[in-house]
Amino acid sequence: MAACGKVEVNEDILDTLSPELQVIKKTMQDKQMRLGMQEILKALLKIVPDYENMLVENVLRPFIVKDEDYIRIMDLMLENFNKGLHKETNKDARVKMFPTYVRAVPDGTEEGDYLALDLGGTNFRVLLISLRGQEVNMDSKIYLIPQNIMLGTGEQLFDHIAECISKFMVSHKLGRKKLPLGFTFSFPCRQEGLDKAILTTWTKGFKCEGVEGEDIVRLLHEAIKRRGDMAVDCLAVINDTVGALMSCAHSDRQCAVGLILGTGTNACYIERLENVELANVKAEDGPREMLINTEWGAFGDDGCLDFVRTEYDRHVDKHSLNPGLQIYEKMISGMYMGEIVRLVLVKLVKHSLLFGGQGSELLFQRGRFYTKYVSEIESDVDDGFKNTKQVFEELEIDKSTEEDCRIVQHVCSLISSRAAYLASAGIGCILNKMDRPEVTVAVDGSLYRFHPHFHDLMMEKTQQLVKPGLKFKLMLSHDGSGKGAALVAAVAHRLRQEAHTFQKEDKSNLRRNLGEMNLYEQS
Ligand code: BGC
Repeated sequence: MAACGKVEVNEDILDTLSPELQVIKKTMQDKQMRLGMQEILKALLKIVPDYENMLVENVLRPFIVKDEDYIRIMDLMLENFNKGLHKETNKDARVKMFPTYVRAVPDGTEEGDYLALDLGGTNFRVLLISLRGQEVNMDSKIYLIPQNIMLGTGEQLFDHIAECISKFMVSHKLGRKKLPLGFTFSFPCRQEGLDKAILTTWTKGFKCEGVEGEDIVRLLHEAIKRRGDMAVDCLAVINDTVGALMSCAHSDRQCAVGLILGTGTNACYIERLENVELANVKAEDGPREMLINTEWGAFGDDGCLDFVRTEYDRHVDKHSLNPGLQIYEKMISGMYMGEIVRLVLVKLVKHSLLFGGQGSELLFQRGRFYTKYVSEIESDVDDGFKNTKQVFEELEIDKSTEEDCRIVQHVCSLISSRAAYLASAGIGCILNKMDRPEVTVAVDGSLYRFHPHFHDLMMEKTQQLVKPGLKFKLMLSHDGSGKGAALVAAVAHRLRQEAHTFQKEDKSNLRRNLGEMNLYEQS
């Protein structure tokens, strides 16, 4: 992998050299001596065969995380999980481990027509879902959330959402029919029941004023009321991880973990009720389990991942909308991966290790190397770097060699593998904690779906990290955000209707807690 031959060996690139040399350099008190040492190093480098390669590898070395470090990450993750689960430590915990009030998975008997909303990335979806047991029919429409709304006020956001629902109702001739609605809202929320979700903090490029600390169901109902042209009843709010798990569990009874690897990342899992100290539920009522939305994206926000973070991770964080927050997410998910790759490519260009030292204006633009490029570039196998060259063209890079293609592919592969391995450490931690003999992990999200090797990389690393004897599967979950929301709304709706009947029969005996859901109840 030789680069272009006129490499500029300056202090910055020497800094990427082996730690031993750095130690020697640092011990030199005298500036002249240090400079002298640098000159000797430069001269020595040039007689090393293939030294350009060595320099490329040095730039990339921080992305290679040792096996023992992944084990340490798993241990740290477990500490964070326990801190979040316990009542007395939750306040200071970064990983919040939110109780979801969903206490079991669907049993396949759910029926009826439901509306579902899905908000979590740049698109907003409205869905009409008809459940007939295992048979699920969906009709959906995607609406764009413009950047000015993502960064505007909460009122603008919810008015926009209400307008999209209204348009959907009209185009689907639903008139003023009052349909039960499930809302997949994929941001960290402290739930006080199924239909009360307080946003703790925005993530993934959203920053609408006046929503943090508020109940999003109330904000939605208020916006619908302001329009006055439809009747919608939001019965349940779920996270997309819960949707993925629900949707998969509808057909696979071993499914006990939901994982999202898309614009953001997060996981949920089934926890024993005695460990869920924060939920206000009666243990004697119903199943002794509850889904926990870990919000693991915030892992590392206390600095515990600093030992594996690189200068590029720090740069991405510093220039994000939420510096210091969602550290683990920023090392893994699709919103940030392309930018990490871009920063590395820029460094290589600046040291004349790539594209003959000549980048392009677009390559130097923040956010302009999309994560989908990583998947495309890594999909090139023995095809003369077809996709890679196409990406270079899109970035207006005029001159590139086969060697450049190989280097860029190598950069993409190191950064995406690190992401897959970090996510595996998280999943390994959950599987070991649950300690069930066989678990299916429902996975959704564009990164997992479109990256050519993410699944295989995760299978391999998770296998290394789980306790011997534990079996697991990673299963692509289909449209969990829509189907999952409808499934949860379906049971909430049934419970509400039952409660009405029950109330008529014996008001004094009303024990049902509608804020909580036991999806096994009918079986
Ligand atoms: C959010 C989570 C969500 C994840 C995946 C994160 O940024 O905080 O709630 O599940 O993205 O969409």
